Amino acid sequence: MIVWNPRRGGIIAWAWPASSSPRAGVSPAPGATMDDLSVRPRNPRLSCPPPLPAGPASRWAALGQAVRLPGTLLAIWRIVSHDFAESALDENLREFWGFQLDSQDPRCRARQWRKVRLSAIGPRDVVSLPVRELAFMMNVARELEIPIPEYSRHNGEGLRFLLPSLAHFMGMNREEASYAAAKGLSWCDRPWCAEERRHATTFARLIERLTETPPPRDNPNRPRAVIPTESDALRLLVNRQAAEWNSSSSYIVMAAHATGDLHTLIRNVACDEVKHLNILSAADQYLLGPRPWRRFADLVRHSLGEYRNQKRARSGGADLGRNPVTALEVIAAHILTECRMRKWLRGVPLLSLSAIFEAQPDPQGLGGLTPCVQREDRFDETGRTERAKRLDLARWESGRRRNALAQRAFEATHAAIIRRTLARELDGLSGAESPGSQRDRLLRRRIRRLGPARMRTALLGHLRDHEIRKTGNTI
Ligand SMILES: [Fe+2]
Ligand SMILES: [Fe+2]
Repeated sequence: MIVWNPRRGGIIAWAWPASSSPRAGVSPAPGATMDDLSVRPRNPRLSCPPPLPAGPASRWAALGQAVRLPGTLLAIWRIVSHDFAESALDENLREFWGFQLDSQDPRCRARQWRKVRLSAIGPRDVVSLPVRELAFMMNVARELEIPIPEYSRHNGEGLRFLLPSLAHFMGMNREEASYAAAKGLSWCDRPWCAEERRHATTFARLIERLTETPPPRDNPNRPRAVIPTESDALRLLVNRQAAEWNSSSSYIVMAAHATGDLHTLIRNVACDEVKHLNILSAADQYLLGPRPWRRFADLVRHSLGEYRNQKRARSGGADLGRNPVTALEVIAAHILTECRMRKWLRGVPLLSLSAIFEAQPDPQGLGGLTPCVQREDRFDETGRTERAKRLDLARWESGRRRNALAQRAFEATHAAIIRRTLARELDGLSGAESPGSQRDRLLRRRIRRLGPARMRTALLGHLRDHEIRKTGNTI
């Protein structure tokens, strides 16, 4: 049902028609937050065994885990350092951009996973943690990951005006979903959906390998209706970030307790979530400006709400957080991932963000499966208004907005000088495709000696833009 609501900035609200409203017993979203779910009764068929029955065995296991805590924290730090390296995060953003420009490029459709032998995975691959505890964590993750096609429309429709490129990446809007349904396509084929849909199955298989018991496959979740007004779309953006932050951090902890093919497979899933967190965090910065502490507060608030809901409604939720050592590991992973993401965000210039997020989606769609369906005329005006707001940085905090607009004006006025300086003083930035490389450090030293502060900011922005566009395997 389409609702035109002129009081809310002319945003179109879309509610599920009664006939197609999500059924009870279908799942939430891949990477969903509990905010998207209605509270459901516990499903006895989904009740899973506790990580360890209370008693001496549980206490001894926790003690053993505590003794190995320094080693586990070191493993977590190593994983975060690798998966949140500047070049890895640049690559994620470039994949997102590549999908907008050429959605038929297979490299941009879904992350490539490293190959593993599922049959080689067994309980012996679990380290410094009881196997039951890891299986319990996986079961909670599995429940949260169970995908439904409708959920992709939360993203596609909910974000269609706020940031069309992000909506295009994360789901299908109403027209695209109708087109797909008419063609008999049962699943959203956007990269976010393609990546999320493999997570629940992976965890189910891993639980089976580790415990020799297949987990239940029915779906305990019940998605709520989506009404994508501007405020709801902004809330959705923060919700998604919190969900991706929590999943990437939790899966990194799981990976730190695994070796061999088990480790590789969990890392495959975790890296998908890092990519999603990466793209959403960049979108947050583009739409709302640099706001490290307010963003962090938003993420923590949403995450705590989600955690409380999961304890109440998730199968085995009462056992969440029962093991203080695991809780400490998960908190450490959250802090490390946030620190790395914040460091990366500090260096990403507005120049790159606006080029990437304002890229026009490829009109050919995904290999002809679900093309970008033409918008209705009355949507165009809302789309234009929202674009103008983004380009004007209208949602940024006033001080940062003033500064960013002044910098942009400076760069426009001195474009010729900047171009000349890049060519003559910085060798056209050639060889500086990798952040942190020797060449990158050399050029940064040269930039520090050049011109006034605004000129240095402009040159550093161009250097980072060059790296983001060209790092590693250029797309
Ligand atoms: Fe996921
Ligand atoms: Fe995700």
